[in-house]
Amino acid sequence: MSTYAEKQGAWMMKYPAISDLALKAQKRIPQVSWAYLSTGTGSEHLLDENTEAFKRVTFNPRFCNGSILPKIETEIFGQQFSAPFGIAPVGLTGLMWPRCEMLLASAAERCGIPYTLSTLATETPETVGKHVGDRGWFQLYAPRSPKDNSEILKRAADSGFHTLVITVDIPTPSRREKTKRAGLSTKAKITPRFMWQALTHPSWTIATLQHGLPRLRTAESYPDFMEDMSVGAFVKGQRGANLTWDFCQEVAEQWEGPVLIKGLLHPEDAKRAVSIGMDGIVVSNHGARQFDGAITSIDALPAIVEAVGDKTKIVFDSGVRTGLDVMRALALGADFVLLGRAFIYAVAALGRFGGDHAYHILKDELQNNMIQLGVKSLGELRGRALLGNRNTQPGSGEE
Ligand SMILES: Cc1cc2nc3c(=O)[nH]c(=O)nc-3n(C[C@H](O)[C@H](O)[C@H](O)COP(=O)(O)O)c2cc1C
Repeated sequence: MSTYAEKQGAWMMKYPAISDLALKAQKRIPQVSWAYLSTGTGSEHLLDENTEAFKRVTFNPRFCNGSILPKIETEIFGQQFSAPFGIAPVGLTGLMWPRCEMLLASAAERCGIPYTLSTLATETPETVGKHVGDRGWFQLYAPRSPKDNSEILKRAADSGFHTLVITVDIPTPSRREKTKRAGLSTKAKITPRFMWQALTHPSWTIATLQHGLPRLRTAESYPDFMEDMSVGAFVKGQRGANLTWDFCQEVAEQWEGPVLIKGLLHPEDAKRAVSIGMDGIVVSNHGARQFDGAITSIDALPAIVEAVGDKTKIVFDSGVRTGLDVMRALALGADFVLLGRAFIYAVAALGRFGGDHAYHILKDELQNNMIQLGVKSLGELRGRALLGNRNTQPGSGEE
């Protein structure tokens, strides 16, 4: 049986960056899968800005520090991880690559990072829990029915998931024009267009035929939640616009482990999450998939850190594509970083060990850039970022 170690050398030469994996993924999966994975909403201004905004965060390196081997192990929510980043929840995952959840869960377990399973994944907590060891976080889209909600939470906890992530940034479905144009329907229909895409992407098609067409295997057990098994119906069946802080608090009380609220951008919302006892928040604009007019996460981060950074753990996502981006978010005060598309590109491009490869790219980039900057530990990153030229304080935080 092959291992990632056997492939690592060749893959690092051929695919040294996440952008290489994105290019390969785009060729390897049907257009409808690529559209679902890669696009945003509206004019996709925010999708571009999510990555552009990182370029405005720069550093002023220091030298003659002797030899540096940066330490990047991180403890958060009572768990020890090998790096300060993990895998964000992604729904309809099997559309991008069959068994994607299991492949990423196993990679997370091997690499020592968290994997977050979405309520809208194509595999259940029971199936994925067997692969993820104690690295599993579970993301909740809360159904309207309290009974369904409690049952989903129980299933996730019984399957070994440790940390709960409640996503709050879907008050209504977004328009996602590009996925509409690509013909996406979660009621996987065999149309002539789909047939053509299947024929022209044989490795995806063979893997899909072996595993079966993607289904929302967790949500489909709850008919009130998933009236007709489509993502649109699901979004109507979840609390969405009815979600309240009180409800989040009630959910948190049902969960024994740490609870995070995902999708906050406003410092007042961050304070509110702290006031109801959340163990952490995820500063996120949902990878630019919901509100094209939203602020980028990296622009939102400093004010949130100032508001609640000493009171709760701040997890960051949206637009992270490199280890340098991870370093930028940490330097601006995030405690941990999640990546959505980067890990899915990796599995879509390389299959079984794709997640391991994404991990090693990000880890190498992070450690290499820490050495370039002249820091030995993640703690030393704080205060070292320059935001455009606005916050440039020569010498600040550097001694
Ligand atoms: C294809 C796709 C599906 C997603 N599905 C979910 C989901 O089911 N639940 C959720 O909380 N976030 C979901 N997200 C958002 C991610 O958790 C994360 O916030 C986002 O991907 C971060 O941006 P990035 O892709 O630029 O890293 C999804 C993102 C993508 C790209």
